[in-house]
Amino acid sequence: MPRDQVQSDHVRRAAVLAAITGRRSVRGFLNAPVPRATVEEILIAASNAPSATNTQPWRVHVLTGAARERLTAAIMAERAAGADEPVPEYSYYPKAWPEPYLTRRRTLGWRLYGLLGIARGDRAASRAWQDQNFRFFGAPVGLIFTLDRRLAIASFLDLAMFMQNVMTAARGFGLDTCPQAAFAHYHAIIRNELRLSPHEMVICGMSLGSADIEAPANRLRADREPLDAFAAFHEE
Ligand SMILES: Cc1cc2nc3c(=O)[nH]c(=O)nc-3n(C[C@H](O)[C@H](O)[C@H](O)COP(=O)(O)O)c2cc1C
Repeated sequence: MPRDQVQSDHVRRAAVLAAITGRRSVRGFLNAPVPRATVEEILIAASNAPSATNTQPWRVHVLTGAARERLTAAIMAERAAGADEPVPEYSYYPKAWPEPYLTRRRTLGWRLYGLLGIARGDRAASRAWQDQNFRFFGAPVGLIFTLDRRLAIASFLDLAMFMQNVMTAARGFGLDTCPQAAFAHYHAIIRNELRLSPHEMVICGMSLGSADIEAPANRLRADREPLDAFAAFHEE
């Protein structure tokens, strides 16, 4: 193989793997705007995601400026009213967590709260931190992903692939993201603010912007299980 070819293979592999492995959930952003053209380029790239029979069921609402602030204010007002957290339109979390998921989940939560200095059982501090979700952790761009509720559960796969592409493409611009199922709880408020069609179901939110490397939450590293914990090779 010509030397040039070997080098370009190496460069391509390094770029693709860096985009994937360099992504992590960022929970503290700088107040630096992201140009609309950049957001558009990310979303167009993301729409190359595969989907069953090319149905392309994803829909995304891009919130910036006053629109983003209005949604945050509406959700914060609901939370301040002290009502119980509303229930999402679909169940993302099981009622009871079996192992090993429970331990993984707790490990992540304790590690994050350790970095933030939130003591176990400090409900007020925990709630104040949760509020940050709805401020998009300070990111200039908030994304709300929806699906047509007339579709079946498999369309969630297609949307998830689109969302993953958004997060990976953002890395190409030096930007970071945090996917946020927390928004699904506030589907009624989001529906009203964004004037969603009756068919649109709120699935997830996402923050997009430039990471604040000083933010304590951004020191969090979520562990990954080794290959043999999740892959089975069947060869004979
Ligand atoms: C669909 C989905 C919803 C999530 N919702 C939230 C959320 O509401 N708030 C949050 O802080 N993180 C949320 N996360 C981020 C996860 O906690 C994170 O992906 C996980 O801990 C692994 O860490 P990493 O993304 O940094 O690799 C969500 C992730 C996914 C995939």
